[in-house]
Amino acid sequence: MASTIERVAIVTGGSGGIGRASALRLAADGMAVVVHYNGNRERADETVAAIIDSGGHAVAAGGDVSEEETAEALFDAAEREFGGSDVLVHTAGIMPLSPIADLDLEVFDRVQRVNVRGTFAVDKIAARRIRPGGAIINFSTSITRLQTPAYGAYAASKAAVEAISLILARELRGRDVTVNTVAPGPTATPLFLDGKSPELIERIAGSNPFERLGTPDDVAETVAFLAGPARWVNGQTLFVNGGAA
Ligand SMILES: NC(=O)c1ccc[n+]([C@@H]2O[C@H](COP(=O)([O-])OP(=O)(O)OC[C@H]3O[C@@H](n4cnc5c(N)ncnc54)[C@H](OP(=O)(O)O)[C@@H]3O)[C@@H](O)[C@H]2O)c1
Repeated sequence: MASTIERVAIVTGGSGGIGRASALRLAADGMAVVVHYNGNRERADETVAAIIDSGGHAVAAGGDVSEEETAEALFDAAEREFGGSDVLVHTAGIMPLSPIADLDLEVFDRVQRVNVRGTFAVDKIAARRIRPGGAIINFSTSITRLQTPAYGAYAASKAAVEAISLILARELRGRDVTVNTVAPGPTATPLFLDGKSPELIERIAGSNPFERLGTPDDVAETVAFLAGPARWVNGQTLFVNGGAA
């Protein structure tokens, strides 16, 4: 792992499956990383330790992404520790499932608060503070195209994320900052696995031609591409799902 800092990345949800893999991958690519967590500080600390043990640079920083001060604090940490920020990878999110007919509206509100307001709040600060040459990477889901039952509130929140991303890409004209959305398919993390039977997981894993679940590293590969070399990919939603149908 490189010991000189090439770029500085903030990874929200760095205590989660895809966030952790993205943080490790960007660190391996030479980026210093602010590893964000909400409730699970221990897991963020483990990721920071793994990066530092490999010769990289990282710090942990916490907070609820739907609170306005969390994003400011993350960018402040990046500036204080590493001199500024070039990349935002915003993976933090939640996915309660229920048929629309049965969903408690308080749960609906919580999904929109974390996934939509959270993205809006973090992107708002990123729009002001990411340096030229940088990249903002938001997270949607392949469910916005597959329209699977029980994902109504979640799909609605992620469709909003795709809309925010494209509009922000256009608002950043002249800034040399890309804004894209990664839309994974089923990926083996707690968010996907929790509450599903082995039979259901097997059936879902068979929905793509590779006949397996995606891994966090599969998704981190696309994050690394968008965070580094992909300067001409802008305002896009990239479906990273092995061809799931
Ligand atoms: N896994 C999949 O199959 C899949 C498929 C499509 C899209 N996605 C999207 O990919 C992204 C990452 O998912 P994942 O599978 O890596 O999920 P995960 O392992 O469950 O991790 C979720 C992360 O979000 C954080 N988080 C939750 N609520 C938060 C809040 N209010 N404020 C701040 N952080 C909060 C969690 O922090 P703590 O643990 O510290 O509380 C955790 O780091 C999500 O946006 C998800 O919608 C995932």
